Amino acid sequence: MSEVGEPATAVAEETDSVLLRFRAASVRAERRLAGGDRPSPAEEMRSIADEAAKLDDPEAWDRYGELGPVEVLERRICELLGKPAAAMFPSGIMAQQSVLRVLCDERGSRRVALPGLSHLLVHELDGPQLLQGFRYERLTTGSSFPVASSLTKIPGRLGAVLLELPLRDGGYLLPSWDELADFSRACHDRGVPLHFDGARIWESQPHLGHGLAEICALADTVYVSFYKGLRGLSGAAVAGPPEVVDEARQWRSRLGGTLATLLPYALSALRGLRVELPRVPDYQARAQELASELKTRGIRVFPDPPHTNAFRIFAPVGHEGLNERLVAFMEDERTTLTPPWEAADVPGWSWTEFTVGAATLNWSVCEAVDALCRVVDASPDA
Ligand SMILES: Cc1ncc(COP(=O)(O)O)c(C=O)c1O
Repeated sequence: MSEVGEPATAVAEETDSVLLRFRAASVRAERRLAGGDRPSPAEEMRSIADEAAKLDDPEAWDRYGELGPVEVLERRICELLGKPAAAMFPSGIMAQQSVLRVLCDERGSRRVALPGLSHLLVHELDGPQLLQGFRYERLTTGSSFPVASSLTKIPGRLGAVLLELPLRDGGYLLPSWDELADFSRACHDRGVPLHFDGARIWESQPHLGHGLAEICALADTVYVSFYKGLRGLSGAAVAGPPEVVDEARQWRSRLGGTLATLLPYALSALRGLRVELPRVPDYQARAQELASELKTRGIRVFPDPPHTNAFRIFAPVGHEGLNERLVAFMEDERTTLTPPWEAADVPGWSWTEFTVGAATLNWSVCEAVDALCRVVDASPDA
């Protein structure tokens, strides 16, 4: 799923003229409030080529995912996450299917416990069940993060347990460090492997208050994404014990993911680790500042304060008028602000997601909140 610029959930129809205008205005925009800057394809390719020049061997290619920048990237992931082995994948969906399949086969059970709002359940068109025969057990429903007692409520043999850090469809929710450590202990005591869907683990680190390797030590295996917060082209990696990662590589080939080269994706991931990763704490701090200022202007946020650089915004106005104003603003100002808004559960309220990235830091908090308030326009006759 894209980070910004798309509806937060898939409710809007292609035929919706406001959505079509939204997309057109988004492409034409010269300035962005949410997420990262949007380089042209040519600028992006030049930037990725420049990344190759920074490597010890700028001439090296990977061949079918071995050697070259892919190997450099996999080594870097091992160091950062404190895991002995890592394998790059073209997509997170493939990475998680592969590693969960290996864990489940080892345990002799395809039952996987995971949050009801997990990406696997909500956004993967049942692929993991259809292709791998997983049977899901829901640890939670709705916007809550699983805790150790959520696991106790699921008796019987499990192949693996998955936690999504942060739980994106719950509002980018994270547990406290102690809750996460308790959960990990509960899995360990039960002898079931814990896997982290760490698509946004980079953005989870400031809230958890521990280093990436300490966080990953709580799980047996971890998947990370290179194209969300790190703003790579695409791509993912799984890290964990060598025998699990080796077997996951076999699944990568079986699923058609061992491409002749992963070079552009690997280079863009290395750029993300070098440029974007150190900025994550600033993004999270700015998310908290924006959220706090929005609240003083009658706009609610969830979670409050945000756990990561992304959060949900709720406004006491209907989403249709709000989206009209949003698109008019984008067209007039050649500026994007948020993804389209959707109807909230509370009648007459709307919500959307907001993600802080490099583009957001080019705005002062005041200027950003003024622009959002201009669009929300919560006055009674709005
Ligand atoms: C939490 C989470 N897990 C997994 C994925 C799948 O990643 P990919 O798009 O690389 O297949 C995504 C993608 O948005 C995600 O948000």
